Amino acid sequence: MRKTDCLLIAALALSVPLCARAADEAGKVIRIATDATDLVLTVGDNGRLYQSYLGPKLLDEADLGKLPWIRRGSGTPVPNQGWEVYSTSGNEDYFEPALGITHADGNPSTYLYYAGSRQEPVDGGTMTTVNLRDDKYPLDVTLYYVAYPKENVIKTWTDISHREKKPVRLSQYASAMLYFDEPEYYLTEFAGDWAREAQMTGQPLRFGKKVVDTKLGSRAAWFVSPLFEVGLDGPAREDTGRVLMGTLGWTGNFRFTFEVDNMGYLRVIPGINPYASVYELKSGDTFTTPEFIFTLSDRGTGQGSRDLHDWARRYSVKDGGADRLTLLNNWENTYFRFDQPLLASLMKDARSLGVDMFLLDDGWFGNKHPRNDDRAGLGDWEPNRVKLPGGIKALTDAARDAGVKFGLWIEPEMVSPRSELFEKHPDWAIRQPNRDTYYSRNQLVLDMSNPEVQDYVFGVIDGILTENPGVAYFKWDCNSPITNIYSPYLKDRQGNMYVDHVRGVYNVMERVSAKYPRVPMMLCSSGGARCDYEALKHFTEFWCSDNTDPLERVYIQWGFSHFFPAKAMASHVTSWNKSASIKFRTDVASMCRLGFDIGLQELDERELEFCRQAVANWKRLQPAIMDGTQYRLVSPYESNHAVVEYVDSDRRKGVVFAYNLAPRFRDPVRRVKLRGLDPAAGYRVAEINLMPGAKPSLAEHGATCSGDYLMKVGLDLLKADPATSTVVELTAL
Ligand code: DGJ
Repeated sequence: MRKTDCLLIAALALSVPLCARAADEAGKVIRIATDATDLVLTVGDNGRLYQSYLGPKLLDEADLGKLPWIRRGSGTPVPNQGWEVYSTSGNEDYFEPALGITHADGNPSTYLYYAGSRQEPVDGGTMTTVNLRDDKYPLDVTLYYVAYPKENVIKTWTDISHREKKPVRLSQYASAMLYFDEPEYYLTEFAGDWAREAQMTGQPLRFGKKVVDTKLGSRAAWFVSPLFEVGLDGPAREDTGRVLMGTLGWTGNFRFTFEVDNMGYLRVIPGINPYASVYELKSGDTFTTPEFIFTLSDRGTGQGSRDLHDWARRYSVKDGGADRLTLLNNWENTYFRFDQPLLASLMKDARSLGVDMFLLDDGWFGNKHPRNDDRAGLGDWEPNRVKLPGGIKALTDAARDAGVKFGLWIEPEMVSPRSELFEKHPDWAIRQPNRDTYYSRNQLVLDMSNPEVQDYVFGVIDGILTENPGVAYFKWDCNSPITNIYSPYLKDRQGNMYVDHVRGVYNVMERVSAKYPRVPMMLCSSGGARCDYEALKHFTEFWCSDNTDPLERVYIQWGFSHFFPAKAMASHVTSWNKSASIKFRTDVASMCRLGFDIGLQELDERELEFCRQAVANWKRLQPAIMDGTQYRLVSPYESNHAVVEYVDSDRRKGVVFAYNLAPRFRDPVRRVKLRGLDPAAGYRVAEINLMPGAKPSLAEHGATCSGDYLMKVGLDLLKADPATSTVVELTAL
């Protein structure tokens, strides 16, 4: 085609109203498909875009054109009313919108018309991009969907941009919107508190809205994790039934809205929580929402979790394919009381335990205001000269001499009012200019919306790594929520604070990842208050909870395992609940990335020997536990026991962790049928993680059983003894 023809067509197109042009596309179908799920969008007669289907994969392509996209109203379908794919405020939709904009002229309504779409291959799947446009305002909305066929996962996010003369104000800006038409819906949320993370509770969804959200800003997931499940045929079950499992990649305020309308349809609206965040978007700028990641399983949460685990390790966790480092942490052993010789001796302990690394926790920095407790020092990232006269260099040297790697704790987004940083830059902290300051853990959050602060924080990490190439790992903590919400930097644009703060945090994380792609890092926030797939692009694992009482930890790990692979979850053996045996404590920690946070002097020689063996076992079994397929076999929520099995990718190796939590008198225990094995293969059954000298309790110990037998007849793994555990290794012969 000649250039002049193109120009003519473009001019003609511009003279035809957008809604009319979009209506010409009526019936156009956009299929976003995995191997098991179809999400279908259809352009309506009015040129707007509707969700016409979300469910199990449709077998016949021809059926896509017949989908009943007009769903609202009884009797005769009402034109122009349906499941609009990204519903907006101020139009004929009577329920919660995804997008709320007040235009520069004060008009609060937005109508989006289909303006084009394309599909292209991306790493692991296909990306569908859909352009929508308002017909009266220069406002563009772009929807993105990446479908990962093999893992049955879809991730979706949205761009909002405009060319109005003045800024527009965004009051709602969801990542996506999904609709369901089922007789009942049953929500599972993952809520709790410090040391009680990811407790699973369920409830039916009925007419009206249920909102799961957080307003804490930085330590955002303190009370609830950004995860949910909706059972679509009754409460979500482990191995049967249809379930939507969703999570938001946002390390800040999130909100999931579930609304059941007058017809009994459910809309799910995941996104940033717009609480105190009417966002001012300048002309020409783009507002990009966080990614919403979901899977739709028709084989219960077990299959959904396995799909999410595979997806996460392949595409969304830093170094998802690499081995993890076992470690010895000093936090619960020494707290703030340590010096160079003590740390050097702990490094030798780490070596004698057989772990890969020693991790130095809080308390190593600050000179004018030494960090000897949690009331001073954050922000002054210089080694304390009294405790550590040789600085970090002497520590990395000592670690090298001991034969272990060296890791370091930081909390870079925070500042203590008693610090040189605060004395120099009081305007770098988030706090009210005209009110009393409220502190959480005696500290303030740095104003990460300020590029100068971002540079400073990046400089801290970059400086440590440049000057000390021996630092092999970071534990990045975040112990305070945002208090006294006010950004000195944003001045009269305070509505942007919560969002721009998180973007500032990502700016630093991205720069660290780009410059140090191979440095593993643990995401921590007073336990598990940061656990999302955006941060995990930059972190190899997250700390699930400060609660390491094994009886409690079983529930916490159980909850998180619904969304995260064991490889992304850190668990340490500590002194919490010392009345539980070291074996029980270690067996629970061995289900995740194994570490220790305990003084070895607390252990007798037999216990120490047990720990050494358990570390060696974990390292040998890492391919199954970290990279294998997980089966949750017995739920602690439905019994007084818990059993979890991991099978490696070629089904040659399996590990089963069985726990007797608090069984009741004559509690009936059943044999446990295993999953995921090769039925034709013979497996040697070995009880491992035994205390030195202890006899195996498993009748099948030492025997060879076929995969078929293990899956149909099972093993007698459970007992009536409280706080005991059995670990079984299966090796195909
Ligand atoms: C909270 C973390 O969860 C702990 O593991 C420890 O690192 C402390 N912070 C240190 O202040």
